[in-house]
Amino acid sequence: MTCEDERNNPLCSNPKCGERNRWCVTSGQLVKLLQILVKMGTHMLLKFDQVQKSYPGGRPVLRDVSLSLDRGQTLALTGESGSGKSTLLNLAAALDTADGGEITLDWTNLSNLDDSGRAALRRTSLSLVFQQFNLIPSLTTGQNLSFHARLAGCHDPDWCAHLADRLGLTDLLDRYPENLSGGQQQRVAIGRAMAAKPKLLLADEPTGNLDETASATVLDLMLSLVADTGAALLLVTHSQEIAARLDRRAHLTGGHIE
Ligand SMILES: Nc1ncnc2c1ncn2[C@@H]1O[C@H](COP(=O)(O)OP(=O)(O)OP(=O)(O)O)[C@@H](O)[C@H]1O
Ligand SMILES: [Mg+2]
Repeated sequence: MTCEDERNNPLCSNPKCGERNRWCVTSGQLVKLLQILVKMGTHMLLKFDQVQKSYPGGRPVLRDVSLSLDRGQTLALTGESGSGKSTLLNLAAALDTADGGEITLDWTNLSNLDDSGRAALRRTSLSLVFQQFNLIPSLTTGQNLSFHARLAGCHDPDWCAHLADRLGLTDLLDRYPENLSGGQQQRVAIGRAMAAKPKLLLADEPTGNLDETASATVLDLMLSLVADTGAALLLVTHSQEIAARLDRRAHLTGGHIE
């Protein structure tokens, strides 16, 4: 309910405002609130706030990591081997839990979620591309492509066919992973991740096993697919050339982001 003449508005200083109604706001306040919500909704997607993570018996891997990623933005995460890039990605993917600090994804504080809540978030908001593809060997290319989208309950055959076409997989839909090259398997992994149109695509060295040309092709495809769907991309890479093609770069060293 809006209160154009400021009656019924508990926040109003107008003496005319006689009746008190907790849920009554002026249209000006409503507009301001909507502006804030739109701003929040169109910007930040992922936020790490002073996140800490150690493994049992080991030294702290992430000591105090703060990082944010806006909706639709692409961010390259670099760092030496063992600096904690995959650890950070696993936390963002809600596959693991932080020891301290706060991780917020799509307005959900991940530390407030139990296992099933984290699984639900993984189905609805994000997808992962693993360096080792992780395709399901007993499923064909077509079945692998649609696997996550079916799990998420949002399988769209037209979108899957479009992805197969964009990724050059249309003639390979009946083949099993063992009969695909490394580059073809990588493209299936990307297609599978994009099939559910995630808000966040996480990719752990997705071009690590590919030669320079195949790597450039795969990156082009990922960037164009995330641009088409409005997804944000957090991509781990050792390559400065790849990092330079993304909107932003973050470097992980000594358990902190530089
Ligand atoms: N499950 C685990 N149990 C114990 N220690 C782990 C585990 N996973 C990773 N680590 C340790 O945490 C540190 C960071 O590992 P992580 O895999 O995140 O590094 P990375 O930056 O991804 O390295 P790379 O570039 O080689 O993939 C390493 O010292 C690693 O040995
Ligand atoms: Mg790693």
